[in-house]
Amino acid sequence: MIQVNANNILPFVPEDYLAGRAAALEQAQAWLQDATGAGNDFVGWVHLPRDYDKAEFVRIKTAAKKIQDQSSALVVIGIGGSYLGARGVIEALCSPNYNQKKKDTPNLYFAGNTLSSDALHEIVELIGDQDFSINVISKSGTTTEPAIAFRFFKELCEKKYGKEGARERIYATTDKQRGVLKSLADAEGYETFVVPDDVGGRYSVLTAVGLLPIAVCGVDIDALMAGAADMMALCAKGGADCPAWQYAAARSALYDSGKKIEILAAYEPSFRFMAEWWKQLYGESEGKEGKGLFPASVEFTADLHSMGQYIQQGERLMFETVVRFEKPLHAVTVPFDEADGDGLNFLAGRDMAFVNEQAMDGTLLAHVEGGVPNLIVHTGPNTAENMGALIYFFEYACGLSGYLLGVNPFNQPGVESYKKNMFALLGKPGYEDMRDALLAKLGK
Ligand code: PA5
Repeated sequence: MIQVNANNILPFVPEDYLAGRAAALEQAQAWLQDATGAGNDFVGWVHLPRDYDKAEFVRIKTAAKKIQDQSSALVVIGIGGSYLGARGVIEALCSPNYNQKKKDTPNLYFAGNTLSSDALHEIVELIGDQDFSINVISKSGTTTEPAIAFRFFKELCEKKYGKEGARERIYATTDKQRGVLKSLADAEGYETFVVPDDVGGRYSVLTAVGLLPIAVCGVDIDALMAGAADMMALCAKGGADCPAWQYAAARSALYDSGKKIEILAAYEPSFRFMAEWWKQLYGESEGKEGKGLFPASVEFTADLHSMGQYIQQGERLMFETVVRFEKPLHAVTVPFDEADGDGLNFLAGRDMAFVNEQAMDGTLLAHVEGGVPNLIVHTGPNTAENMGALIYFFEYACGLSGYLLGVNPFNQPGVESYKKNMFALLGKPGYEDMRDALLAKLGK
């Protein structure tokens, strides 16, 4: 189960930082539990691990099995909240090198998360002759990046398998009844899965959005949901013993003490995309009205040889949150070397996990002494159950944090600005006046 160790923030925050926020946390807790706060039409994720659609869950497993039987590749099309969670969990639990591994499950290709034609072209090359299926994921159905990618792969699929065959291979995850993707899926007869109305993109990894691709890779989604349900029960109680309360209070206190950047660090490279997911979750939930911690991430020990310099001695703006897994799934020991040219024989026979742990502790002490407060999130071993718990923990703490900050953690009004400009510049009908003004600004 998740445990937060906040001992190493104590020199940087008032002693009573948690007690001092207890009333605000009680209020935030009630807003989340009773759906009575700002953005209350988007808190469906709070009870999702208990209330999820059990019939759809069975359909997800059946579809995953069908994809596994029919295809050696699955193209997962989506962006932002319709992308990062699935990739984060798959890389964390199955490896960032999942496609290169020997396995019984299909390769996975993530498309529609960029407008790079080279990236799209490369996926087609990588798929080559492999039989493939498609899971297109978009709550709105109108997001440009996945919509373009879907046009492309739909055409490819229909050319290879015919319209009838493609119908058996395309799965759409979208709104229950609205939106162009839903209409298209119904018209074409694709199997559809639902992004619930009351669950926003960045809180949707435990819906079909994340669960279908995750299940295709062979991850035990029952265990993932069970871990989330356990954490949900703990968070529902709240209080000073609740890890989400502890994390939210610590972040808030550090922000108030002048730390404006939170760096999420892990000592497992497989956690990289979970950190990307976390950045979206916190960045989009808190960064508004001129407020909010800036979420950044590093991969240790690799980044100790690059960003480590800044963290140790640059502007004193940040604190670190380190996600620590209990122990690796595979033990590797340091070999003995007769010549001992690197002088490392004193480590011969030692487990790499021991070396990694000393690096974690040594870095912690150095960074704290350098003025970087350190929070540790202990997760237990890297299992589906613990990953489910970690996801829910971060989501719940994020909801609490947004309310402590005084913002609506469930909207993202700022995301629209670039889209409007892009549509105007692309010549979308209805944006003509704006287009002329933007072209003049660009001097074109
Ligand atoms: O969190 C969010 O709401 C966004 O990141 C969306 O998930 C992202 O923009 C994709 O939206 P959609 O699923 O509608 O294509």
